[in-house]
Amino acid sequence: APEGINLVVVKVETSEPGLYGLGCGTFAYRHLAVKLVVEEYLKPLLVGRNVENIEDLWQLMNQNGYWRNGPIENNAISGVDMALWDIKGKMANMPLYQLFGGKCREGIPVYRHADGRDLSELCENIERFHEMGITNIRCQCGGYGGYGNTPATAPKGAQPGVYLDSRSYIRNTVKLFEGIRNKLGYEINLVHDVHERIAPIEAIKLARELEPFDLLFLEDPVPIEQTDWLARMREQTSIPIAEGELFNNPVEWRKLISERLIDYIRVHLSQVGGITPARKLQIFAEQFGVRTAWHGPGDMSPLAHAANIHIDLAAPNFGVQEWSGIEPPNFVIQELKGP
Ligand code: CO
Repeated sequence: APEGINLVVVKVETSEPGLYGLGCGTFAYRHLAVKLVVEEYLKPLLVGRNVENIEDLWQLMNQNGYWRNGPIENNAISGVDMALWDIKGKMANMPLYQLFGGKCREGIPVYRHADGRDLSELCENIERFHEMGITNIRCQCGGYGGYGNTPATAPKGAQPGVYLDSRSYIRNTVKLFEGIRNKLGYEINLVHDVHERIAPIEAIKLARELEPFDLLFLEDPVPIEQTDWLARMREQTSIPIAEGELFNNPVEWRKLISERLIDYIRVHLSQVGGITPARKLQIFAEQFGVRTAWHGPGDMSPLAHAANIHIDLAAPNFGVQEWSGIEPPNFVIQELKGP
């Protein structure tokens, strides 16, 4: 648990000496449940089967418990799925992006997250990233929901926690982006993450008011349960929309993509069951002009970041990659060198 984050890594061994694979099944806040599914249910199901048949094994793992598409099961399946792809790459003696059709690009543009207590501290942090060569930066003040700069709305005697005043959050966020553009101009691509914390109609208001500041996209403006609202948002604003880091089930993204209600699909690879379903999703999104912006937070393992980037390299509809800055910052590049 580096930095207190409970990472889950699955190791799949084969009958071939030295041939094994590693995969990420990190659901940091339910890690013991994922571990139990892997050890008690998937291991007895899989031992003795052929590691070459990834698609068939994925279907088996997904359907074996009858009820499916939940986050705990999906993470357990992802741990095995990524490990099987790791084994496949070793057997082929190729990095995965080669097996996915080869590179569409030589590098992966990332976005980093800048925070600050006020506009000037935020702008300093944005410039620090910009000096590192990063041109896509997600911005906020005082954590998600901007609670550092909104008045407390908790009633007397309330439990400690974050009490969001959504109306002042919206006003402050619009002011913040106006301030950033006034100070730094329009050269840097800005992102803002609503983190699903306000009512859908408020998200539409925020999206409209942020439009003049030319965002790369607005991230997760509505909760997973309220994505039907995105059709209304689309009618009222041309702000690019990224959605989906909480998605688990293909029915949660199918309509958003096929009806072109979003511009970037943002799923978390292990939450959808690993590389196998994520590749299908990426290819599906390509048909509708929707680009990828896979979730890349700090609470997933370096293996999952590497999996993101292998798909990114081979995806014609790659958009941008969230990068949480695990140090040393070049570890993914070293992983990708391959034979
Ligand atoms: Co987010």
